[in-house]
Amino acid sequence: MVAKKNLCVLILAAGKGTRMKSPLPKPLHPVCGLPIIAHILQAAQALNPAAIGLVVGHEAQKMEEAVKEGLPKWGVTAPLVFVEQTDLSGSGSAVKAALPLLKRFEDVMVLNGDTPLLEAQTLEKMYSAFQSNEAGAMVLAVRVPDPVGYGRVVREQDGSFEKIVEHSDADEKTLLINEINSGMYVFKFSYLDKALQALTPQGPKHEYYLTDTLAHIKAAKQPVLVYGSDDYEQALGVNSKVQLSQAELIMRERVARRLMDEGVTIPNPKAVFIDAQAQIGVDSFICPGCYICGKTVIGKNCMLEGNVYIKDSVIGDNVTLKMGTYIEDSTVEEQCQLGPYAHLRPQSVLKKGAKVGNFSEIKKSVIGEGSKVNHLSYIGDTDMGAGVNVGAGTITCNYDGKNKHKTVIGDHVFVGSNVNFVAPVTVENYAKIGAGSTITKLVPQESLAIARSRQVVLEKKGIKHD
Ligand code: UD1
Ligand code: CA
Repeated sequence: MVAKKNLCVLILAAGKGTRMKSPLPKPLHPVCGLPIIAHILQAAQALNPAAIGLVVGHEAQKMEEAVKEGLPKWGVTAPLVFVEQTDLSGSGSAVKAALPLLKRFEDVMVLNGDTPLLEAQTLEKMYSAFQSNEAGAMVLAVRVPDPVGYGRVVREQDGSFEKIVEHSDADEKTLLINEINSGMYVFKFSYLDKALQALTPQGPKHEYYLTDTLAHIKAAKQPVLVYGSDDYEQALGVNSKVQLSQAELIMRERVARRLMDEGVTIPNPKAVFIDAQAQIGVDSFICPGCYICGKTVIGKNCMLEGNVYIKDSVIGDNVTLKMGTYIEDSTVEEQCQLGPYAHLRPQSVLKKGAKVGNFSEIKKSVIGEGSKVNHLSYIGDTDMGAGVNVGAGTITCNYDGKNKHKTVIGDHVFVGSNVNFVAPVTVENYAKIGAGSTITKLVPQESLAIARSRQVVLEKKGIKHD
């Protein structure tokens, strides 16, 4: 979107979020894998303003740290200024606290910090309507099926803006109005500045309502316009855990729709949990019960059978993930097969065509090209070459009670069933390990190691063997 050098976007996120009943600041609660505030910052950035201000107050330090840490992950690179609101006495005083920042700009867009579903296109359209109508202030209003809790937009007889009345201050007639204030506004700075000075405390909590500035601007004979939108979902304010789940469901639907539009096959979009940042290639097939979390990238033509969980991982093309596979912070190259019930723990890499089967766990290991760990194994802190066959029940004993140690397995090694590798230990290329061995020493290239006691057969008295 075109750069807007006169515009500053201010996000209000200092409130206590009491109704969430949580010690975690409200803007940090996740919706589709990203904090509410991340969604709002992304929309604000996409609008391309000259600056973004973020008002923090309740748990200010925690908020600032979490946001600063999150910005690169959320892809937010726009200049961001933190403003601290020390006196938490309403949305009006939140904006007042930001005046030193705002005065550098002609126009100010204010967004509530609890509306994760708003979209940059809506903000863009509202801002261009604001400019072309030469408004003094503009508020985004939507008609909702259930206006409970929201500020109502009261109009004059001719349909023009009169005032906003908060739910808690509304009389019976006003409560019937279903056109609500979305909490998104644009102001000419000079009018906003004057109107803020004129605010007086209101309502049961004696708060300074930002919403009252609109009536003040109107009283000063400046045009205050209502920008109406039919898309009430975008205005959903998250004040409670119920509203958090409503936002989640709506955003999940959006994410699934985006992916299907991009060519992903999702037979039952209501039954999958895909986070906002996921990228999935054409014709990958996502069965019900799958969780695709965090920053996960999946290639094309992959099959994700039911109940697959993937977090912060990269999956190549033509990968099959059978029922119940769990992958975290790992890389799976093209043509691999995992599961059913395979477990990749962080920092694992499966090279092209590798297979990890039933009840095998891999941790911080490389499984080389075409290598197989198909049954009931634990491979940890291991560097495994290509073409290795690991027999059922093989364990790398990587932990001595104090430290973790490495197992190195070369190319084309054959590991019989039920083998223990006591790390640190190395097995060179083309070596073979007999079933049931406990390997504690180097196994040189092309050799056969058997490390188990010989079978002893004790005859039972009276029974003869030939
Ligand atoms: C607000 C609006 C209401 C609107 C609704 C839309 C006011 C007075 N009311 O009500 O008309 O329909 O949003 O969702 O603005 N905040 C601060 N500092 C404070 C108080 C609040 O930064 O001292 C921030 C909050 O973190 C939040 C935003 O302002 O992001 C709105 O506050 P909230 O308490 O959620 O207002 P609502 O009652 O939802
Ligand atoms: Ca709110």
